[in-house]
This record gives sequence, structure tokens and C-alpha cells, in this order.
Amino acid sequence: MHTITTALLAIGPPGIPVLHPQSHYAHSIFELSSWVLWVCLGIFLLVAGLVSYAGWKFRARPGDADPRQVFGSRKWEAAYVIGPTLLLAVIFGFTLHVMHTSDPPAQASGDDIVVVGHQWWWEVRYPKLGFVTANEIHIPAGKNVQFGFESMDVIHDFWVPELGRKIDMIPGRHAKIWLAADHPGTYLGACAEFCGKEHAWMRIRVIADTPATFAAWSSAESRAVTPPATTSEQRGLHYVTSMPCASCHTIVGTSARGIIGPNLTHLASRETLAAGRLQNTPQQLSAWLHNPDAFKPGSHMPNLHLTDDQRNDIVQYLETLK
Ligand code: CUA
Repeated sequence: MHTITTALLAIGPPGIPVLHPQSHYAHSIFELSSWVLWVCLGIFLLVAGLVSYAGWKFRARPGDADPRQVFGSRKWEAAYVIGPTLLLAVIFGFTLHVMHTSDPPAQASGDDIVVVGHQWWWEVRYPKLGFVTANEIHIPAGKNVQFGFESMDVIHDFWVPELGRKIDMIPGRHAKIWLAADHPGTYLGACAEFCGKEHAWMRIRVIADTPATFAAWSSAESRAVTPPATTSEQRGLHYVTSMPCASCHTIVGTSARGIIGPNLTHLASRETLAAGRLQNTPQQLSAWLHNPDAFKPGSHMPNLHLTDDQRNDIVQYLETLK
């Protein structure tokens, strides 16, 4: 049954498994959708079967007189209204129940993680742990994690289908849901509400760690970065803090304190760049700095027309931000 449902509903953005629930929240959504799908399939077969049967059984034959005309039937009309209404009410009840499972109580405070949508990347705050990162979200596996959601500009929609429900991020509002991952692993998601030119490149990576790995990761994120050692790295730091980079990006421990773009404090510990558009390798980082528009046309990351030497120094420096 599970396999058939999966085959019937094999849709979703490429590479993002939509029908592979990996938490009790995602499981309850998956079960509800499968159940509704099978009920609807049953109704379709029943209606299509009855229509086909009637069409065949009562077809006109040569010499037939006009059929007897029927003008309504109270009994059947009532059944047509009451039957579907009851069915929809039952589906509505189950849907409310499933929605309720992943919603923290209205008075719940203290989000573990707050995700802020920006055109076109995700700011990820850990208010309890006291640091900020971007685009890649680490969570401890096997725990219910309370997520808060906000938006800095337009409506975005956070969706990591393996871990739970979708949630709209509406400017001026704070939404919250629980998400979880049963097992350690990497879970992919994407923005699910059209939010402008680079909507398709607002990818999400949730990395569920074992408790020990999560503790190690969060203590590394809280640590100050080590000062650059080589002269090239030092020049890189100088460029980052003296050029426009610093007015958009923060690197904790330096004078770079911008909040328009992603926090770069531990950039080198991330797997991807530009919300999933590029792999975080020195080559791709350099290519991104050389011409952001080649990868994300319309992104707010400007082309600073760096010389090759400047770019090389900046990459050397950014690679130290482990
Ligand atoms: Cu953000 Cu679509």
C-alpha cells in the first residue's frame, strides 16, 4: 500500500523526497494524505463505475420510445448532499487532529531555532545557544525541536517534507511548529511559496546530528573564530572588513556586522553556498565572488569586481572560518 501511494504521488521538487516521512509529524501527514487519496480513489471508481454501468445498461436501442422523464428525487438529492458533507466533515476532523499534532500550544515560548526568510536565503538563529548561522540547520536527532518563523521581506514558505508540515513565513508575524528527525542524516527542503526571481534557489538542508555531534557542532559555532595566520588570509580579512562585504555580512569577532546577508562566522563549516546553489569548495566560492549573477541572477549579492589576487585572499581567509 505504502509503495503504491508513493508511486501515485511521486511528485515534488527534484531531489527533495516528499513521500519519505522521517518523523512522527511527517508520518501523521503522510498517513492522512494516503487515507484521503484511497477514499477519493474509491469514490472515483464507484462514480465512474455506476456511470459506465448506467450508460451501457440503459443505452438506446433502435425502435425504443423516449424514456420516462424523471424530475428530481428528494430522497436521492438528500443523500447526495448529506453523504459528501459527512465524509468531508470526517476528513476535516482528521486534518485538524494532524495539524494539532505539530503545533506547539499558542502560549509556548522559547523557540529552539528561529528561521528568518530573506530573498533568497534563510537566516537561522539559535536563541538559546546564542549564535546565528544560515541556510543549513543542525538539529539533534530524536528530539522535538520548536521552530519559530519570521520573514524579513515577502512571504516565504519553509518546507522540509521528511520532517513535518509546511509553514508560511509572513512579514510581521511569528509562526511556530515542531519538527523532528527520527534518525541522524541530511534532510532537504525548499521554499514552497513563490517569493521572487530566485525562489527556486532557496534550498534548505537540515542536518540531524547524534547528541554528541550536535553538542560538538554547537560548541564550535559558539566559539570565536581563530585570527588569520598567513599574510594572504590577513589581507583577505582586511578586504572583507574594509570593502562593502562588511555592511551586509557579520563575522563575529571582526568589525563585519552587517545583517542584510548571511552570517559568515563559520562559513567554512557549511556544505553549500548561496542557499544550496553551489558546493562550498574554494573553487565554487571563488566563482561565486567573481560573478554572483552567473549563478543566481537577481540575487542581492553584488559583483564587487575584485581582482584575482583580492578574490584569492578573500577565499583563503573565508576558508579559515571553520
Ligand atoms: Cu522564498 Cu520562495
